[in-house]
Amino acid sequence: MAVDLKTDFCGLEFKNPIIVAAGAHGRDGDTIRETARWGVGGVCTKTIVSQPATDVLPCFAKVEGGMLNAVFGSDRSAEYWFTEGIKRAKEGRARVIANLAGFTPEEGAELARKAEAAAADMIELPTHCPHMGEILNAMFPGMNFPEPKLLDVGPMQQSVRLIKEAVKLPVVVKLSGTFSHIVREWTKGVEEAGADGIACSDALGPALSIDPMTGHPVLGGPRGVGGLTGPAIKPIALRMVLEIAMCSKLPIVGVGGVIRAADVVEYIMAGATLVGVCTAGHLNSEKQYEKIVQELETHLETLGASSPQDVRGLTLKRIEERKQRGKVAVTDPIVPVVEESKCSECGKCETVCVYKAIVCGGGLKIDKKRCTGCGLCVSVCPTGALTQVYY
Ligand SMILES: Cc1cc2nc3c(=O)[nH]c(=O)nc-3n(C[C@H](O)[C@H](O)[C@H](O)COP(=O)(O)O)c2cc1C
Repeated sequence: MAVDLKTDFCGLEFKNPIIVAAGAHGRDGDTIRETARWGVGGVCTKTIVSQPATDVLPCFAKVEGGMLNAVFGSDRSAEYWFTEGIKRAKEGRARVIANLAGFTPEEGAELARKAEAAAADMIELPTHCPHMGEILNAMFPGMNFPEPKLLDVGPMQQSVRLIKEAVKLPVVVKLSGTFSHIVREWTKGVEEAGADGIACSDALGPALSIDPMTGHPVLGGPRGVGGLTGPAIKPIALRMVLEIAMCSKLPIVGVGGVIRAADVVEYIMAGATLVGVCTAGHLNSEKQYEKIVQELETHLETLGASSPQDVRGLTLKRIEERKQRGKVAVTDPIVPVVEESKCSECGKCETVCVYKAIVCGGGLKIDKKRCTGCGLCVSVCPTGALTQVYY
């Protein structure tokens, strides 16, 4: 079955649901135009700010499961973006999302008005970056950049209201990963303020990496802290997206830890309409964006879906089914079933079985008395030879 990846988001057509989230591939108009050539539906600018600041260095570091970054907004002036940058970005035949932040709500509205005049397709407002306060205060002594009050949605709401008055473009609020435990409160706040959509999430943190030979924090800045991104944050961002979808009708951009098409499908199943990718492109080159777009078509085809919409919110339905069947807390173990033709006898299941219930070699034997049905072996099997049907 042919798969149509075209996706409507806030009344805008995207050629596919994958966008490049704000990062170094959105650092200027030419880079966005070139990034768009990898076939993505849209590219976000790096956060446009009125007073660009130089990054503390080093500002990027690979860590297990992703990377840390200690960057501020765009190092190009707002003037550059609104006279040249967005225009050049638009030559790339992908939607251009102006990610911007004012130091005051009024300034945010002014930046948004100028982004609209420069023909950006959508506005995205970041809410809070985990490492920003510490770095800005060190760079600009006396500026007293306030520690964000995580529970106070008021300033964000004021910004959204003023921006909505200033522009006709869709306005999307990008939630911070640090709102993980209060995502419903922020979602409600975004909705009440009149935003058109929610992106989730930005980095988690503040996070730290130390050079074990010298004791130095790997990143620059006072304590060397940064925001954690990449696969390590995906389970948290994905759960946040699910929760947004459970309590709001606003369209969602799922972001965080996407490296392959299966990750995109998970976000769509959790309720996202668009899916952002950032770290995967930084750690593997921009070609990764194209790979994800191509694999997405194949993955959806395998599922028998003709478009991403066919699987959107599927997980919400599955959760509802559990409730309806009275299966919200299953405790009777199901011993995994082995499909021998798929088993390569790699032994991973035996290695991880903490109950010593599996013996691999000359076939796979599972001791039914020892097996507790925990599911770990199923999740590590690289060939899908083990299955358990609980629901
Ligand atoms: C190097 C880098 C720079 C980033 N810069 C911005 C930014 O300027 N504005 C913003 O809203 N998010 C920024 N982010 C956050 C990403 O847009 C994204 O929300 C986050 O990295 C999670 O997605 P990922 O795991 O695919 O990277 C940045 C992330 C990275 C890694």
